[in-house]
Amino acid sequence: MSRHEQHSSEEQILAQLREQLNPNKLPRHVAIIMDGNGRWAQQQGKPRIEGHRVGVESVRAVVEAAADIGIQALTLYAFSSENWKRPALEVQALMAILVEYLKREVKTMNANNIRLSTIGRTGELPERARKALEKTIEATSRNTGMTLNLALNYGGQNEILDAVKKIVYDVRDKQFNIEDLSADVFVRYLSTAHLPELDFMIRTSGEMRISNFLLWQLAYAELYVTPILWPDFRKPQFYQAILDYQQRLRRFGDVREQTQ
Ligand code: IPE
Ligand code: IPE
Ligand code: MG
Repeated sequence: MSRHEQHSSEEQILAQLREQLNPNKLPRHVAIIMDGNGRWAQQQGKPRIEGHRVGVESVRAVVEAAADIGIQALTLYAFSSENWKRPALEVQALMAILVEYLKREVKTMNANNIRLSTIGRTGELPERARKALEKTIEATSRNTGMTLNLALNYGGQNEILDAVKKIVYDVRDKQFNIEDLSADVFVRYLSTAHLPELDFMIRTSGEMRISNFLLWQLAYAELYVTPILWPDFRKPQFYQAILDYQQRLRRFGDVREQTQ
């Protein structure tokens, strides 16, 4: 098969998958644990960092695929509060890749009406990363399409603790009575308050764990774990995952399917 033929058959597969999608049953908010970059590189006999570099191509593809079908919010787990434990060189490389990604993608984000936001303790990131984030958030703040939400120095337990602290301060400052604290109030103190409810969580590389991601928000999200490593997860794999989501019966504890 020539390169051109291969390209057009990939396009055909993508178009077929897209046709199968039900536009009335899309998850509003999708989150992804982008895992397996290191193993992908190892399999090719390359340094782990090469896996992160190729992983950025998957980020590009999936962001475009999600925006294309009208997903409202996409949260990507890019750096966890535990990832600081990695060798300093790998952490530095991840930060450099982030800065480069933001610089390169701001135009595409604007062209696709995508707004950038972050969750996690971003104040603790290196200055270059903080500056690039601030700039890109500002440059895309007037966009009204999909929100691309990057989880950076994010940990679900820290997020809950930060929310509890704010609540305690607000109770002290008499913003509300402790008896009025409910789940609906609590979610307004989480860093995802600006996003629709989480419907679907994807994890690549086959690990059956949450790794401190979106602990509160995952309560009734549908889960999808694929053995595919992140650098190999592109548009067709993303649409395949969404198709899987559309087959699910969400009951939320009831006996019949609930349409939220
Ligand atoms: C995910 O891939 C990327 C980040 C955590 C930033 P990994 O680097 O965790 O790859 P594996 O899991 O070691 O293969
Ligand atoms: C989760 O992956 C964090 C990100 C994808 C950013 P990890 O590779 O850090 O998770 P564990 O160590 O396998 O749980
Ligand atoms: Mg990993």
